[in-house]
Amino acid sequence: MATLVTGGAGYIGSHTAVALHDAGRDVVLVDNFSNSSPKAVDALRALTTPDIACVEGDLLDPATLERAFTDHDIDEVIHFAAYKAVGESVEKPLDYYGNNLGSTIALAQAMADHGVRRLVFSSSCTVYGQPDENPVTEAAPTGAESPYGWTKFMSEQILTDAANATPLDVVLLRYFNPVGAHPSGTLGEDPTGIPNNLVPFLMQVAVGRLEKARVFGTDYDTPDGSGVRDYIHVMDLAEAHVAALDALSDGLSGATAVNIGTGVGNSVLEVIAAVAEAVGRPIPYEIVDRRSGDIAMTWAATEFAADVLGWRASRDLDEMVRDHWRWQSQNPNGFE
Ligand code: NAD
Ligand code: WQD
Repeated sequence: MATLVTGGAGYIGSHTAVALHDAGRDVVLVDNFSNSSPKAVDALRALTTPDIACVEGDLLDPATLERAFTDHDIDEVIHFAAYKAVGESVEKPLDYYGNNLGSTIALAQAMADHGVRRLVFSSSCTVYGQPDENPVTEAAPTGAESPYGWTKFMSEQILTDAANATPLDVVLLRYFNPVGAHPSGTLGEDPTGIPNNLVPFLMQVAVGRLEKARVFGTDYDTPDGSGVRDYIHVMDLAEAHVAALDALSDGLSGATAVNIGTGVGNSVLEVIAAVAEAVGRPIPYEIVDRRSGDIAMTWAATEFAADVLGWRASRDLDEMVRDHWRWQSQNPNGFE
């Protein structure tokens, strides 16, 4: 039996494939490489086993899922494949709704057709917007402020409705801010174009691909005025997926939304200091206006993840940026 990992060549999917292998599972990837490189698959096979299968194709093409489910003995699924750039989703809403909702519906239908009932879905803390209080619990109100955010909100609803009406059991993992890389330095995040996210941007400044970082506002109502987020090591996040699959195998039923964070908030200026420490020299930056749509601060309540999945993050910010820097310094141009 094998675990199907959609978007398995991407940043979080590839690291999760390593964690699944380390936990003794057979892994089948599906990816169309729209936002990733086949070299990520080579890297993860080198870290694990050449036997990891990869079905190349688009989830919106029915033949892709048919191949995945008939050529392999799939008994559980993790669905990472999606477009994820918040700003781009405002420019191209139909692409985002089409890809993110279309792939989720097609996958859930294929699972039903093939009698597969256990699913872990990549959701996001974006469904909370700016929470009224921190740490934010799973009971906090949800909604969205971008087409991307709505695709996560709507996918959660679609899968919850399906879980209520059909044998599907699903864990909706609401990730906070994933950073870091596999500790080997051979697998990591390789964003296309100029990074949107803070840590990949800082890393590209550190290797000289970008001149200086920008801090999007120091006038927030936070301790040092810069935005505060809950950064989580991608290997902790990867292990949370294994824990979620185990919980489903152990009988967790219906649809369950779970925060995946560390419970610790760090500011942009603290992240810049941690990266400078890991790199061994200052990171040049300038303070600019707030980025439209940004919130001041959010971090996760982690008790529910501990209760329902038996999982807690174990790596701190210093380890995240050290591992991210090992990857970036050994691969200044990513997989190219
Ligand atoms: P990523 O872009 O690195 O990985 C997504 C993968 O899915 C890519 O390899 C892409 O080629 C593939 N893909 C996209 N559409 C596809 C399709 N129609 N058919 C087949 N493959 C397709 O992104 P990531 O950072 O690894 O994120 C994984 C998931 O986690 C996404 O659903 C994302 O929305 C969610 N998420 C990410 C973050 C984050 O900050 N990285 C935070 C919260 C949630
Ligand atoms: C982090 C902090 C910025 C870049 C996004 C998505 C969210 C989720 C995770 C998918 C903020 C500041 C950033 C820079 C900066 N993704 N910043 N200079 O916005 O918290 O979350 O990724 O689901 O939905 O919105 O992450 O890394 O972009 O920003 O000062 O060049 O860094 O203002 O305070 P964000 P981020």
